[in-house]
Amino acid sequence: MKKNVAVVGLQWGDEGKGKIVDILSEDFDCVARYQGGHNAGHTVSFGGRRYVLHLIPSGIFHPVACVIGSGVVLDPSAFIEELEMLRAAGVSADGRLIISNRCHVIFPYHRVLEAAIERELGGQQIGTTSRGIGPAYEDKAGRRGLRICDLMDRNTLRAKITEQVDQKNRILQALRSTQTIDPGAICDAYAGYSEKLRPFVADSSVYLNDLLRQGKSILFEGAQATLLDVDHGTFPFVTSSSASAGGVAAGLGISPKHVHGVIGVTKAYTTRVGAGPFPTEAAGEIGDAIRENGREYGASTGRPRRCGWFDGPAVRYATMINAPDSIVVTKIDVLGQLAEIPFCVDYKYKGSILREFPAAADLLGQVEPVYQNLRGWQTPISGIKEWERLPGAAQDYLKFLSDYLGAPIGMVSTGAERDETIRRGAA
Ligand code: GDP
Ligand code: IMO
Ligand code: MG
Repeated sequence: MKKNVAVVGLQWGDEGKGKIVDILSEDFDCVARYQGGHNAGHTVSFGGRRYVLHLIPSGIFHPVACVIGSGVVLDPSAFIEELEMLRAAGVSADGRLIISNRCHVIFPYHRVLEAAIERELGGQQIGTTSRGIGPAYEDKAGRRGLRICDLMDRNTLRAKITEQVDQKNRILQALRSTQTIDPGAICDAYAGYSEKLRPFVADSSVYLNDLLRQGKSILFEGAQATLLDVDHGTFPFVTSSSASAGGVAAGLGISPKHVHGVIGVTKAYTTRVGAGPFPTEAAGEIGDAIRENGREYGASTGRPRRCGWFDGPAVRYATMINAPDSIVVTKIDVLGQLAEIPFCVDYKYKGSILREFPAAADLLGQVEPVYQNLRGWQTPISGIKEWERLPGAAQDYLKFLSDYLGAPIGMVSTGAERDETIRRGAA
């Protein structure tokens, strides 16, 4: 295993990154989130229990240090709720979890603004997770957002929040919203949160660079995924952060020289939550069957996920962006019942094969997927732990996927539980 490795999603999120990060954490000293916020829902299942993490790195169930880096936008109430969920489950983060003092803070007005903007968009809405993520990143890029270090300063916090709220109320008025925000309640709540957060707050870049100097190893946990990346995803139907491997160094305040390896995670098929083009979407009965078999409901919002076939051109594009050393294929068990499995190998547009993954969402929405039908295995494979025990047709499906992407498969996941995994040499 390379020393410092990033785990990133190669599709539109929910590939099973949480499960994979949990498994890999055993081999690392520290696990760090570098972007996103509590729009993420990372599921970790072991010992018959299921945990959904939104902000706290999925390594927390192992004796590792955990870092919420500067590139994350943090909602203090979501963080505190998660901390309490873990405490109730007997998992303590005390003394080994760090929140960057440079994280931007999500306030209730970010959610209110997001709802108003989505309303304005009408039929064009993004279908966000409604967590205030986009508006919080807007305030960061606009150089007005408040950060964790502002939250830590008792003397100036009220004035800073009040100034922000005044401004947001003016924007809400312009958006014809009937809602106005009361700064007093927010000031009181956030003063309380700041005291609960204080023991965890530090300069995480200094912390991580110290670890690196000591020769410790770090696993970088991506949230969302490459096709939701603000620069490289299916814009505007994306999230507002750099979810690809390229975001690691920027989000954590470490040099890119320290990112030694990348692991790309993909499902054996495709899902997407929220709006936006999805060429291989299987509407109707087949899509419903995949959703039910794969329990494809959002880990954060509970929304039903849109389901479809493996989108080769999309994942090949994500493979180019991240150059993963190896690929992890999850949820192969979900395809167990099918006699034939369509695999999208190309996009056609106006009768011609597209050479490049389209930048424009409306063009992507018009492409026609070209499928190659692969043989199904029609037998349950849940929980298989050895490659050799997979039916030949399942091995062939995975080999086809690996050859198509030009990347080796390091792991195959055959169930939600931690040990329902096939490991093939160094991941
Ligand atoms: P993440 O956001 O990438 O961490 O993925 P999510 O946790 O949002 O969604 C993945 C879902 O699939 C979760 O409910 C996992 O428990 C589940 N899961 C992960 N790997 C497998 C697998 O190999 N087979 C099955 N059936 N479920 C899996
Ligand atoms: P994990 O880390 C799947 C989607 C939303 C919406 C778009 C923008 O669990 O894979 P946002 O709230 O971020 O502004 O929404 O991005 N989205 C995700 N989809 N998994 C996620 O995270 C997601 N985080 C955001 O559904 O389409
Ligand atoms: Mg998820």
